[in-house]
Amino acid sequence: MVDAAKSGTFKIGGELEIVRLGFGAMRITGPGIWGDPADPAEARRTLKRIPELGITFIDTADSYGPSVSEELIRETLHPYSGLVIATKGGLVRPGPGVWNPLGRPDYLIQEAHLSRRRLGVKRIDLWQLHRIDPNVPRSEQFAAIKSLIDDGVIRFAGLSEVSVAEIEAARAVFPVATVQNRYNLADRTSEAVLDYCTKNGIGFIPWFPLAAGDLAKPGTVLDAIAKKHKAAPSQIALAWVLKRSPVMLPIPGTSKVAHLEENVAAADIVLNDEEFATLDKAARG
Ligand SMILES: NC(=O)c1ccc[n+]([C@@H]2O[C@H](COP(=O)([O-])OP(=O)(O)OC[C@H]3O[C@@H](n4cnc5c(N)ncnc54)[C@H](OP(=O)(O)O)[C@@H]3O)[C@@H](O)[C@H]2O)c1
Repeated sequence: MVDAAKSGTFKIGGELEIVRLGFGAMRITGPGIWGDPADPAEARRTLKRIPELGITFIDTADSYGPSVSEELIRETLHPYSGLVIATKGGLVRPGPGVWNPLGRPDYLIQEAHLSRRRLGVKRIDLWQLHRIDPNVPRSEQFAAIKSLIDDGVIRFAGLSEVSVAEIEAARAVFPVATVQNRYNLADRTSEAVLDYCTKNGIGFIPWFPLAAGDLAKPGTVLDAIAKKHKAAPSQIALAWVLKRSPVMLPIPGTSKVAHLEENVAAADIVLNDEEFATLDKAARG
């Protein structure tokens, strides 16, 4: 039986337990992550299938749509029995495919309040700063996040696309529960951040987790290992990411039920140490 729970669990902030393999809700919007999805009925079916497959963690953002993703999540899954909904703020969207950081404290606070209202929750379980705005002192952005925690608007807070130095600067102001950086078998730019998160019990949420770059092509070691497991290369890429660290919380995203089911089935694939090392070496090479 397809069950995300086979990926194991992690406690956000040492308290809030989730199943490690989650869902990214960016793809349930239109082209350029703008407006309604191409097939709204299928997007709704996809969201409704999430809890049935054992997923308990959904990642979204105010800027997905904007608002479309949060609104669809509320419409299909509220009151979220057993689900943890994480959202983000700090990017403005003047149009499709355009993402501009905006970290003014009053804007970040407003956006967290609006996400809370759209999601229909008393307190947001996990709110992440989508980007540190280089045009606003980071200390002001971190202070805004601390005030959101102190005021009970959000329970836990995280960062996205950050370095170890930035995480440490933020931790001086508020407890950093999660970090969300681009990471997958082929893109290992964030290895140092991942190691830091692993050491400090900070959840690491790799975005674009299904990618395997050129390794996904026929005739590669990934292709051979996928055939051995009777799996798709993207499933092996996901199984590899899950094995990489106990704090790894991948959130593959899709707008289609069949793809969701395929991605969750990766929780059942256990790579042995040799397969893990072979893929690691091939990807780094
Ligand atoms: N923090 C950030 O800056 C940031 C940036 C980007 C994304 N994110 C988060 O990370 C999540 C995942 O990132 P992502 O969406 O970029 O990458 P991803 O989940 O690795 O890949 C999603 C893409 O792959 C397709 N796909 C998914 N499952 C598939 C399958 N089984 N077979 C074939 N195609 C499949 C999807 O299209 P279909 O809809 O056709 O399945 C979509 O185009 C997002 O949903 C979002 O929550 C965060």
